Amino acid sequence: MILILVVTVGAVILTAAMSQGVHVMESTSFCGETCHSVMSPEYIAYHRSPHARVACVECHVGEGTSWFVRSKLSGAWQLVSTALDLYERPIPTPVHHLRPSEGTCEQCHWPEKFYGVSPKMITKFSDDEANSAVKTILLLKVGGDDFGGSQGIHWHMDAEVEIRYRSDEKRRTMYEVELQAGDDPVKRFVKQTVKEDNPELMDWRVMDCIDCHNRPTHVYYTAEQAVDLALERSFIAKDLPFVRREGLKAVRAEYASHDEAAQGISSAIKNFYQSEYPALASSRAEDVQEAGRVLGRLYANNVFPTMKIEWDTYPDFSGHYNSLGCNRCHAGDHATEDGDVIESDCSICHTIVAWDEASPEILELIPK
Ligand code: HEC
Ligand code: HEC
Ligand code: HEC
Ligand code: HEC
Ligand code: HEC
Repeated sequence: MILILVVTVGAVILTAAMSQGVHVMESTSFCGETCHSVMSPEYIAYHRSPHARVACVECHVGEGTSWFVRSKLSGAWQLVSTALDLYERPIPTPVHHLRPSEGTCEQCHWPEKFYGVSPKMITKFSDDEANSAVKTILLLKVGGDDFGGSQGIHWHMDAEVEIRYRSDEKRRTMYEVELQAGDDPVKRFVKQTVKEDNPELMDWRVMDCIDCHNRPTHVYYTAEQAVDLALERSFIAKDLPFVRREGLKAVRAEYASHDEAAQGISSAIKNFYQSEYPALASSRAEDVQEAGRVLGRLYANNVFPTMKIEWDTYPDFSGHYNSLGCNRCHAGDHATEDGDVIESDCSICHTIVAWDEASPEILELIPK
């Protein structure tokens, strides 16, 4: 009787401890902080994304036992590789064994949702003395399913549409693309300009959310995006002469660590104003110092020397300006045997209302 009692009590405690352990292991802080230096870039990038309140496991594991077990098996290997310092720097992307978005993204978002047209304004600054601002305004035809007929950009996710491709390991060159729409015969597009003789082809992959939204949460900016956003939001004083040009130069230099970068960037900015604008360097000393500090933060949020992550290590595929993105398929370079080409007309994806304009007419129409 005593033995049975001991075993039962033991089993109960063990089960509770294990489920508590699983609970801890599923927490965002466990994934993001336990192996600090390894995960720190993803953790930092995650915290400034629209998904900062979505647990890592919601996208990386999802519901269901089989994915849970897979994640624990790969987690066990990750533990060993971290302990023995065997992991790759930077952590390679794309994540080839990531669960298809049906089991993750689509638990919260659903492909049939109709978004219609989404306006977007992008502000950029120039490298002149006045850091002049220019604006681009787009109406993005996100679309989706409207009463059983998909249109626009989210047409790719229609239940009747399947697009699959074979690419290189990085998914940057799409060699073959197949489109299956409803009962129509499969259309096979082949990339016309292939430079390599024997390109290394991956297996067929069915396109899903992350082929466009590959950075829904680990958002790394390009140096220009980061500096322009800080200027737009006035974290850096826009009226400091040449602050964009000098800021970009400073954050693009090489540093061994975040501390070294913070110091190097601050002194580069300070030195520039002291030698080129000495009067301003003393009258606006605080703004100059703040600019250096903010630029140091931008570096620390996007570049991780210990993990060999530089500006542009993790490109975002949801457009075509900062990476190939849509143009991996939509550059007019993929054709069927009959000469049908994957469309590249600017207007299928957006209406360009203003393009790098100092004061777009349309903004004049909006009451201040
Ligand atoms: C909203 C969904 C989502 C959440 C939440 C999320 N991730 Fe990711 N993560 C992704 C996607 C999608 C990729 C794959 C990008 C690719 O394959 O191109 C990825 C890739 C990664 C990578 C590979 C490196 C890279 O950036 O491509 C690591 C490491 C990672 N995530 C860790 C984490 C950690 C740690 C957390 C929690 C702090 C987390 N992820 C939360 C969606 C998510
Ligand atoms: C647990 C729920 C959840 C999961 C899983 C999830 N999302 Fe989200 N997602 C949200 C919420 C909530 C928002 C809105 C956040 C806000 O506006 O504050 C959002 C916003 C977005 C946006 C709009 C971003 C923006 O800048 O406004 C995109 C795109 C997106 N998600 C894509 C994805 C993709 C791709 C995945 C899978 C890799 C994913 N989501 C997984 C809940 C989720
Ligand atoms: C063909 C590329 C592509 C695919 C595939 C794709 N999206 Fe998008 N999605 C976009 C683009 C481009 C936008 C507009 C981005 C912007 O506003 O900057 C967008 C916008 C969104 C938004 C924000 C909509 C808004 O207007 O506020 C959400 C949420 C979203 N997508 C979720 C998803 C989910 C979930 C999937 C998978 C079921 C998915 N997308 C598949 C390209 C894609
Ligand atoms: C893996 C290849 C691939 C990628 C990457 C891709 N597309 Fe497509 N897209 C296609 C194919 C194939 C078609 C159908 C072409 C046709 O019928 O001529 C298509 C069609 C479209 C259409 C027309 C939809 C309709 O209503 O008929 C739009 C809009 C579009 N894509 C936007 C985008 C955007 C925006 C991106 C990037 C965020 C993107 N695509 C990325 C393969 C791709
Ligand atoms: C396959 C769809 C597609 C096609 C074709 C396309 N674009 Fe785009 N474009 C996009 C998407 C998606 C974005 C991203 C908007 C964002 O930043 O979220 C974009 C962004 C842009 C931007 C703003 C980028 C920036 O950062 O300043 C410009 C300008 C632009 N496109 C011009 C063009 C022109 C000109 C053409 C025709 C030669 C064209 N696009 C063809 C989908 C497309």
